[in-house]
Amino acid sequence: MSRKPRVVVSRRVPARVRDELERDFELTLHDEERPPERERLLELVRGAAGLVSILTDRVDDELLDAAGPQLRVVANYAVGVDNVDLPACARRGIVVANTPDVLTDATAEFTIALLLALVRRVAEGDRALRRGDDWIWSPTFMLGRGLGGRTVLVVGPGRIGTRVGALADALGMDVIYARRGDPLAPLLARADAVSLHCPLTAETHHLIDAAALRAMKRDAVLVNTARGAIVDEDALVEALAAGEIFGAALDVLEDEPHVHPRLLELENVVLAPHLGSATHDAREAMGMMCVEALRAVLLDGRRPSNEV
Ligand code: DGY
Repeated sequence: MSRKPRVVVSRRVPARVRDELERDFELTLHDEERPPERERLLELVRGAAGLVSILTDRVDDELLDAAGPQLRVVANYAVGVDNVDLPACARRGIVVANTPDVLTDATAEFTIALLLALVRRVAEGDRALRRGDDWIWSPTFMLGRGLGGRTVLVVGPGRIGTRVGALADALGMDVIYARRGDPLAPLLARADAVSLHCPLTAETHHLIDAAALRAMKRDAVLVNTARGAIVDEDALVEALAAGEIFGAALDVLEDEPHVHPRLLELENVVLAPHLGSATHDAREAMGMMCVEALRAVLLDGRRPSNEV
């Protein structure tokens, strides 16, 4: 009987995903929620034919060299692949796959949850009650804003951005889109809410900087469920503190898992620890897409449908 190909998975995965991997591969699993130290990861990948990487793993020349020339496929457990050096993989003929579609609804729904939490001050109200703040219903107490009739600008109308647009439309919002290459400032100036859904690339790094924030309306809000570094967090903190925009809801941070300390001090900020795709169904389906990519390359000798 021929030996099963060895596959390394750098983090704990849902049970069904682990079972499927164990069935078809010789599995080396770092079965923890915390990542392995870099040195440990470099040791783990040595000799592997396939790698399931997590968005916090840097898949670069160093890691690919540590793995060795037999590495044939990297399945990234995310739709975003900014942690993977794609040219470095291409130079070695390594197939890279990601997990589109199966997390679209989860991420879009979470985007709307954050938007509502921000404009209706849900997290702020929750904090006030937990602190034991003195309060009583009054016509002017803790007023927020509705969404109906307001305009949302979706930056990056891919799968998730388009779904956010559809949900926002169902809530009675007017939806406008910023596509790659569109001049952003005039669109920002029209929007009551700006929702980011573009990939993180050299082009989109700090796309939302001080100038972009100044271009937004003073009562507009920013929502980011894409990647933290699309927003210049220092500039955002300044804009929020100066009242240049109404608020921000961030599921992703520039230096995850580190939170900018000044964000923690601001009431007009809603924060989440990168939960966009965090439903049982989405995370299992993402894992199964990784398994399928490994099977395609390592067992069937074909290119996976989710190749990047
Ligand atoms: C992704 O897939 O890129 C998300 O950020 C995590 O689900």
